[in-house]
Amino acid sequence: MPTTLEVKAPRLVTALPGPNAKRILEQDAKFMSPSYTRDYPLVAKRGHGAIVEDVDGNAFLDFAAGIAVCSTGHCHPKVVSAIQKQAAELIHMSGTDFYYESMPQLAERLGRTMPGAEAKKVFFTNSGTEAIEGAIKLARYATKRDKMIAFYGCFHGRSMGALSLTASKSTQRKGFGALLSGIEHIPYPYAYRCAHGHTGETCGAEILEQLEGQIFKRLFDPEDVAGIIIEPIQGEGGYVPAPKFFLQELQRICRQHGIMFIVDEVQSGMGRTGKWWASEHSGIEPDILCSAKGIASGMPLGAIIARESVMRWKPGAHGTTFGGNPVCLAAALATMDLIEGEYKENAHRMGDYLFGRLADWTKNFKIVGDVRGRGLMIGIEIVRDQRTKEKAADLRNLIVDLAFHKGLLVLGAGENTIRLSPPLLIDQEQADFAARTLEDCFREAGKKI
Ligand SMILES: Cc1ncc(COP(=O)(O)O)c(C=O)c1O
Repeated sequence: MPTTLEVKAPRLVTALPGPNAKRILEQDAKFMSPSYTRDYPLVAKRGHGAIVEDVDGNAFLDFAAGIAVCSTGHCHPKVVSAIQKQAAELIHMSGTDFYYESMPQLAERLGRTMPGAEAKKVFFTNSGTEAIEGAIKLARYATKRDKMIAFYGCFHGRSMGALSLTASKSTQRKGFGALLSGIEHIPYPYAYRCAHGHTGETCGAEILEQLEGQIFKRLFDPEDVAGIIIEPIQGEGGYVPAPKFFLQELQRICRQHGIMFIVDEVQSGMGRTGKWWASEHSGIEPDILCSAKGIASGMPLGAIIARESVMRWKPGAHGTTFGGNPVCLAAALATMDLIEGEYKENAHRMGDYLFGRLADWTKNFKIVGDVRGRGLMIGIEIVRDQRTKEKAADLRNLIVDLAFHKGLLVLGAGENTIRLSPPLLIDQEQADFAARTLEDCFREAGKKI
């Protein structure tokens, strides 16, 4: 009989949460910061591939991947072995003050993945928010300007600089006082809810007019703007892709005014959409690209990748003690091998398969308003009424909870969207299980209207 982790589909052996999980939930409530946002009581113990086992021996199919982090699945043997080997050799040195080979090795490989003929330079961080924080500083440093433009709905992190760019949920800002000044937010091109009635590829033209006609004329002279930052596919905001023309036009505007074009690929990058970077689908060449999450299969690592002519700050201008730690870099090198070798292609193939499988959902389920995304970054927007598009946050939350009780881990995004961000190694059987389970959940939730 296969062990729990060798199965490819969920296997539930207790009511949820089970007895061991209940004990840990009680401890957690006593000792942990209440700021965490757990949707359901999964208490994880081990993972393998796309399967996670909890502390009571229940096995779940993981379509959340630790918020799009475990790109190569849980504990891929090649990643584990790279971590173990590196941990036995050198755990820490601090790349700010000393050299080690994996730094330029990984930087060279990452630089090659970023579009654009110019050579690239890389700064390593511990997280996504630190990559964004560094990108703000780099854009200011490189341009000698201080204003920034960001988008409503985008999430860039929670440290004070990144939080100043984030405009996802007001709870993320409430109570923290003044943030960075000199930042304006403009609407994100959200085709399903386009304020001007455009669909798909044309949504957003008026936003660009607002940027050039209003923001640049009435608020910020474009020559004072250091950077425009955008997620090519909104993550936390609801898995909303920006149209190709919109990203291309933003790039044109940036180039015209000497503004840094910064893409936040923390969630959408590292092969998740079937290419290294989601922005590649639009043929753009950003000046600065931020990565983290899937880059090291769960080890804490982020990266700022920039055109060589942009990353010219002087020694001491920016640094970090832990960022680019040798163990994280070893995990990242193994992760890149796996993504390059097969998982990027698998994300493309399984994404196409899933989109084919989900194509009729808006016809078959009246609570499904929209299915969107690319590769294995898929958003399903839940509405009370397809005609009015009334957001159904309660039904979305119910579906996420029902899926958990059927052995499928998914997360919400935005106010009323379910996000699917599985490890990039899922197979057709697992994709089918997830689709069937969600269909069951939609039927159950649909009865509540
Ligand atoms: C697009 C994006 N940028 C930045 C961040 C912040 O990353 P971290 O949580 O590693 O600080 C996130 C995290 O969800 C993200 O999705």
